[in-house]
Amino acid sequence: MSTDFISIAKVNDLPPGTCASVEAEDCGVALFNIDGHIYALDNTCPHAGGPLGEGAIVGEYVACPWHDWKFHIPTGVCQKNPTPSLNVACYEVRIVDETIQILLPAQSS
Ligand code: FES
Repeated sequence: MSTDFISIAKVNDLPPGTCASVEAEDCGVALFNIDGHIYALDNTCPHAGGPLGEGAIVGEYVACPWHDWKFHIPTGVCQKNPTPSLNVACYEVRIVDETIQILLPAQSS
């Protein structure tokens, strides 16, 4: 079981206006930098599994690269259909010594 913050990227590798897909303890994570604020979402689009960290940032939304569904980056809410089953998980983020750390949900082994 893991409930600790884990380091997943350097702040300098994610300039403002960019996003990235990273792997963290078998979880795909999408990272976003909006005006210097870092956000982390589940990388898997709930529509058909597209990698959200490879999408396009449009304001506070990311457009999935596969079929253009949009998700609100700070909350994970699906713009097209904001029902809970279509929202993506948000991970808590902190910056320590220029390193991006996220808090993954506890997983039972
Ligand atoms: S897989 Fe993301 S919109 Fe279809």
